[in-house]
Amino acid sequence: MKAIVWHGREDVRCDTVPDAKIEEPTDVVIKVTSTCICGSDLHLYDMYLPAMLPGDILGHEPMGEVVAVGSAVTKFKAGDRIVVPFDIACGDCWFCKKELYSCCDVTNRDAAAAAALMGHAPAGLYGYSHITGGYPGGQAEYLRVVRADANALKIPDGMPDEQVVFLSDIFPTGYMAAENADIQPGDTVAVWGCGPVGQFCIRSAWMLGAGRVIAIDRVPERLAMAERGKAETINFDEVKVYDRLQELTKGRGPDRCIDAVGCESHHTGAIDAVYDKAKALVGMGTDRVHALREAIFCCRKGGTVSIPGVYVGFPDKLPLGAAMNKGLTFKMGQTHTQRYTKKLLEKIQAREIDPSFVITHRLKLEDGPAAYRTFRDKKDGCIKVVLKP
Ligand SMILES: NC(=O)c1ccc[n+]([C@@H]2O[C@H](COP(=O)([O-])OP(=O)(O)OC[C@H]3O[C@@H](n4cnc5c(N)ncnc54)[C@H](O)[C@@H]3O)[C@@H](O)[C@H]2O)c1
Ligand SMILES: [Zn+2]
Ligand SMILES: [Zn+2]
Repeated sequence: MKAIVWHGREDVRCDTVPDAKIEEPTDVVIKVTSTCICGSDLHLYDMYLPAMLPGDILGHEPMGEVVAVGSAVTKFKAGDRIVVPFDIACGDCWFCKKELYSCCDVTNRDAAAAAALMGHAPAGLYGYSHITGGYPGGQAEYLRVVRADANALKIPDGMPDEQVVFLSDIFPTGYMAAENADIQPGDTVAVWGCGPVGQFCIRSAWMLGAGRVIAIDRVPERLAMAERGKAETINFDEVKVYDRLQELTKGRGPDRCIDAVGCESHHTGAIDAVYDKAKALVGMGTDRVHALREAIFCCRKGGTVSIPGVYVGFPDKLPLGAAMNKGLTFKMGQTHTQRYTKKLLEKIQAREIDPSFVITHRLKLEDGPAAYRTFRDKKDGCIKVVLKP
């Protein structure tokens, strides 16, 4: 089969690799019909998460048609269309029973390495390196879906891929980020980053009762998409974010701040951002953290900072003094996708949202390698790429 394979920094290729097959009785195999490129994949492409090996298959936002079914699978049969969450749950451990699926204690095959780095191992993830299980990813013609019954979501007939494929990650991620922000009716919610995740944070913040949503980025078409989501916007290349947020909130600061940027934050000229970039370039730093620092600085006293953006290592110069003295609450994490898939599918069916609004590029799997660069460099108006193997 063909698959998008990681070979090194900024080097991904569409290779021919061995076909995905059933390995455990709880597996199914799907013929992938839609599979997306995520901001999280960019952290691998740019090597901010240095635990990939040449030959690893990328991708964690797939859906497709079941073509093979393990003997212990009860929920799915050949021909079913399913969406596959990016995090792999066992469904049965202490964490899964508490719906903390991305913290599953069972599925990370690299648990020892992950625990050495983090204290405890998070769940296995598809296509996301050898600290999260080294599972082959879904940017491929076929995917082995692990523990299908505990994870996959069956899609009702008649719903097009483009409406449901983002249940694999970014819609639940935006929704959980908004839930984690603890939005009270009427709150002002500020969202850093208007990439695909930020877009779903904006729309989810409204669903959860925000009175006002302010979105921050510098890419015009991403800001325009945020405005179509009824957010007010701030272009951080044009104005000082702190000053503008103070002005918009009469000096109090936003109640809830969501960092949907993660470890590759940009900022023209800010001294801390230049410092992060220099450290990362020479291998002395793991994360570029400007957006998170700014969110902490801007958040109102007693407010909440929710972090869906991915961080990988040991970012420094975080203003913990400000966070402590302002009494901020932090919530973060890889999304517990399985907790949200059914509920958000119902919202799509009820026409509360059509997630396909975020798609700008529909391409063949073979176009994947070029699309990584276009997406990373924000060229050609690229916001979200869906590959059709
Ligand atoms: N928690 C999870 O489970 C989960 C799931 C999916 C993605 N993510 C993470 O969410 C983050 C966003 O993903 P995405 O797909 O939207 O990626 P993306 O790279 O398309 O979007 C990031 C956006 O942040 C903007 N940005 C950069 N610096 C900024 C700054 N200083 N202030 C404001 N905006 C800034 C960029 O211009 C870009 O539009 C990534 O870190 C990704 O890994 C997390
Ligand atoms: Zn993703
Ligand atoms: Zn589990």
